[in-house]
Amino acid sequence: MYSDIFTRIEKGSAGPIGQYFDQAFGYYVYPRLEGELGPHMTFNGIQVLNWSLNDYLGLGNHPEVRKTDAEVAAKYGLAYPMGSRMLSGHTREHERLEKIFADFEKKEDAFLFNFGYQGIVSTVDALTGRHDVIVYDSESHACLLDGIRMHLGEKYKFRHNDMEHFERVIQRAVKKADENGGGVLVITEGVFGMTGAMGKVAEIAAFKEKYPFRLLIDDAHGFGLMGKHGRGTSEEQNCMDGVDVYIAAFAKSMASIGGFVAGPKSIINYLRANLRSQMYAKSLPMVYVQGNIKRMEIIDSPEGDARRKKCKDITDAIQKGFLEAGFDIGEAEACVTPIHIKGGVAQATQIAKDLRENYRIFCSIVVYPVIPQGMIIFRIVSTAAHSMEDVNYTLNAFKEIKAKLEAGKYDDEIAAMTIE
Ligand SMILES: Cc1ncc(COP(=O)(O)O)c(C=O)c1O
Repeated sequence: MYSDIFTRIEKGSAGPIGQYFDQAFGYYVYPRLEGELGPHMTFNGIQVLNWSLNDYLGLGNHPEVRKTDAEVAAKYGLAYPMGSRMLSGHTREHERLEKIFADFEKKEDAFLFNFGYQGIVSTVDALTGRHDVIVYDSESHACLLDGIRMHLGEKYKFRHNDMEHFERVIQRAVKKADENGGGVLVITEGVFGMTGAMGKVAEIAAFKEKYPFRLLIDDAHGFGLMGKHGRGTSEEQNCMDGVDVYIAAFAKSMASIGGFVAGPKSIINYLRANLRSQMYAKSLPMVYVQGNIKRMEIIDSPEGDARRKKCKDITDAIQKGFLEAGFDIGEAEACVTPIHIKGGVAQATQIAKDLRENYRIFCSIVVYPVIPQGMIIFRIVSTAAHSMEDVNYTLNAFKEIKAKLEAGKYDDEIAAMTIE
């Protein structure tokens, strides 16, 4: 029987988050943060201490960066260049930025993406054929999973950061690839953005001595921040040569839009001619190209070193404080600290409301289905723009919230549903 698509969607289940969407809109989901980008912004008319931006190095509101962005926009507008790189959207400045990334990552070449997400989906798709086997970490980001979903060959998942399981999976994958006449692409992340866990990049790369495979990492959260010079997680873990395909997105430390993939010249040139999300889409506009060149000047300078250190100091202090106060922060190591709290939607909404209205702290809330039912995560993202005062204030607020939670103060289901 024919079933109209719109009718099915309108009458069907809206899903675990969608069922609360109308009440939650503008507050718990799609909140409106206004004012200058940074740790102090306005939410719902009140000034909040903001821990929800991945602007790790604080470049989003950096005066020189803002000046360059404005000057380039005034000169070129938002459109130039028009068309895809392949046909009419290519410039020498795109080439210059690619060279900067290739040199920075110590790879032969690099290719720009106009969006991290699409670029990553397409890279996974373009690199693998039906005879190849993909092996990937179970907590990989949605864009990697979308790329993997498009893969017509075999795909094997290993338990998140579990190297014993990885070895069993890679053995199976290599055997299968051997039977198929294909190869193996291993995919993981540098820093897992939801949990702050570091990917086991060096340990995986070391397995190359035992098994044949190529390693791709999505270092969206590590680029610019991790490693002595900000080259990313592979620099931090001293395994830059072990990563065959290094990918970064600009939405985090670069406080911008776009991304790049870096690797051997032959592979990057192949991607230039085969990456569907770039061949069939408009190229990165000049405002982002020159804006990103400016950001790279700062990232690759003593100021970049100082900003990395500041972000690390803030991260270390807040993680130490949460641990000392008896909070569960999971496997957090890098710049994201998830505060795990037992509870359902009732507790999540009331704690968030208390945090925002009374303590004036804004952080993202993660609930089921992103994480298992019965858990809530309050996600604290440290940046170089935060201060130790912000850290201490937040730790004290969370200690009070913990005491209230334990005293059952957030258990009222009715109050939970009242959202101003
Ligand atoms: C790990 C990871 N990869 C890729 C992306 C997508 O990048 P973009 O926002 O540039 O599309 C994100 C989120 O922004 C991410 O967290």
